[in-house]
Amino acid sequence: MKTLFSREQLHEGVSAMADKIAGCYEDQHLTIVGVLTGSLVLVADLIRLLDLPMRVGVIAASSYRGATTTRGELSVNDELMLDIRGRDVLLVDDIFDTGHTLVKVMEKMREYEPTSLRSAVLLRKHGRQEVVAEPDFVAFNIPDEFVVGYGLDYEDMYRNLPFLAALEEADLVEHARVVGGKNT
Ligand code: IMP
Ligand code: MG
Repeated sequence: MKTLFSREQLHEGVSAMADKIAGCYEDQHLTIVGVLTGSLVLVADLIRLLDLPMRVGVIAASSYRGATTTRGELSVNDELMLDIRGRDVLLVDDIFDTGHTLVKVMEKMREYEPTSLRSAVLLRKHGRQEVVAEPDFVAFNIPDEFVVGYGLDYEDMYRNLPFLAALEEADLVEHARVVGGKNT
């Protein structure tokens, strides 16, 4: 794997984003909603960098996507989400790729009429955007490569890597060998 950002670089980028978020909300009472599962690591770090009164919850979005490129139908499940009506809400996700996930999740959340709704993402992938909406806060811009670590997965693995890495051809071969071996 090719490391894009080390643990230290991730911390710096997330801290800088946290400062911007803190500046935007000042002493407001905030509700943070993380998109499962990719935002878990970012949410865990971000909330400890924000010295604001806050509530933290989650929402689930899943696309029936197994491979790295093809996309399937996207579904949003808000059964686990806390009440956001009349609240200042910050949606947190791992990556803004085409942007469809963020748009769909925000559409769903607006149905509950929050007072304000903004979004923060760890990564934004260059040249992939297919929607008009923009994330409000971005920690890093990256080239169009498939990345894993710090919450991001390939077939639900590698989320636990403390750094961010781009998957290379040899990694896919190794992945198929390891996962294939487990299943047989
Ligand atoms: P979007 O709807 O195209 O913006 O895709 C967003 C979702 O796709 C993210 O929440 C991720 O789960 C997944 N995704 C997109 N690019 C990557 C990547 O490079 N690595 C891991 N997951 C990705
Ligand atoms: Mg994912």
